[in-house]
Amino acid sequence: MSATEETPPIPETPPGAAREVVLRTEGLTKRYGVRTAVNNLALEVRRGDVFGLLGPNGSGKTTTLRMLLGLVWPLAGSISLFGENMASTASRRAALKRIGAIVEQPSFYPFLTGPENLHGIATFAGMPDNATTRARVSAVLEQVGLAERDKDSYRKYSLGMKQRLGIAAALLNSPDMMILDEPTNGLDPAGMVEVRALIGQLATSGVTVMLASHLLHEVQQVCTRVAILKEGNLLAQGAVSDLLATSSGVVIGFADAEQLPRAAGALLQARDAGAVWLRDVRYVLPEPGAWTPPGGWLLRVDASGDHSGEINALLAGQGIYAAELRRSEGNLEQYFLALTGATNGMTAPASAAAAPAMPQGGQA
Ligand SMILES: Nc1ncnc2c1ncn2[C@@H]1O[C@H](COP(=O)(O)OP(=O)(O)OP(=O)(O)O)[C@@H](O)[C@H]1O
Ligand SMILES: [Mg+2]
Repeated sequence: MSATEETPPIPETPPGAAREVVLRTEGLTKRYGVRTAVNNLALEVRRGDVFGLLGPNGSGKTTTLRMLLGLVWPLAGSISLFGENMASTASRRAALKRIGAIVEQPSFYPFLTGPENLHGIATFAGMPDNATTRARVSAVLEQVGLAERDKDSYRKYSLGMKQRLGIAAALLNSPDMMILDEPTNGLDPAGMVEVRALIGQLATSGVTVMLASHLLHEVQQVCTRVAILKEGNLLAQGAVSDLLATSSGVVIGFADAEQLPRAAGALLQARDAGAVWLRDVRYVLPEPGAWTPPGGWLLRVDASGDHSGEINALLAGQGIYAAELRRSEGNLEQYFLALTGATNGMTAPASAAAAPAMPQGGQA
């Protein structure tokens, strides 16, 4: 048998392309008094996604999750969960049976053990007080890595363990989708790693996960898709890998600060002359600990794909030589800053004032 014959067949549709839509919102809006907490939100979550709702404090993440769970009522718009229209009570009840959620802090009895707490929650939720329920409790404790601590009372748990017990409780009814609000809030780095790993395992086991977080880094690490909110408005939605690809670029430093505006001008001219891969040129400050050029500023070229060679050649053609030129992988922070209008990478107003004037190459 030849190597080609052993190659597995290529699926007709790319993975994920035809995955069932688990959640869809349209025009979802919530106001508190005159304040619009969520505005005209259209979300789409598909089966198998680890979907991150990302945004700064007060951007409407929790309000959105609460609307999905029927805890607050939208002013306008629609929610479809597992194909059920959440406006109808019967449909809502059916859909919510398939959801596990931690949106409010779960409360546990401090002097009861993990299994005792979970058994109490299970029976309170209508599961029978029998061996099957006890087996389910053991299974979810195993799933979140707490099986070995089943003799310890809750008060002896670390914060990370408490959070994992919350997730275990939400898993009791074998949900198809898990909704988590700031799942790593307040955890130390080790606790964050534990919870992130658990979220990854949930996704692998077939549970769709939707989480809200204001931590760009965290969302980048754990989520496959993301929606970015600001002041209740959706700024962007898509696969994390796509957003990262669009925020990749090249960072250039010059030994002579005067080269900076010249280089920026030359690059902007090239863009206007048809270099479509070159999306933008911005002044940025070096990362802490990195080499700082004279004048303090670096040039960042937002470009899709690796164009460092072309950029180098283009500048050299104008007699401009970079002291440092390196590829910068995309990250959600870059993407978010570009998106929210933090232009020219000027995050610190005091140092921004010292930045050289950005030329308006060819835009007149
Ligand atoms: N019950 C409420 N009554 C009045 N205003 C509210 C209420 N809940 C939320 N808001 C307001 O709605 C906006 C969105 O709040 P929300 O809690 O959804 O933001 P968030 O993105 O979850 O923020 P955080 O990252 O701080 O958790 C805020 O301006 C908030 O003050
Ligand atoms: Mg919140």
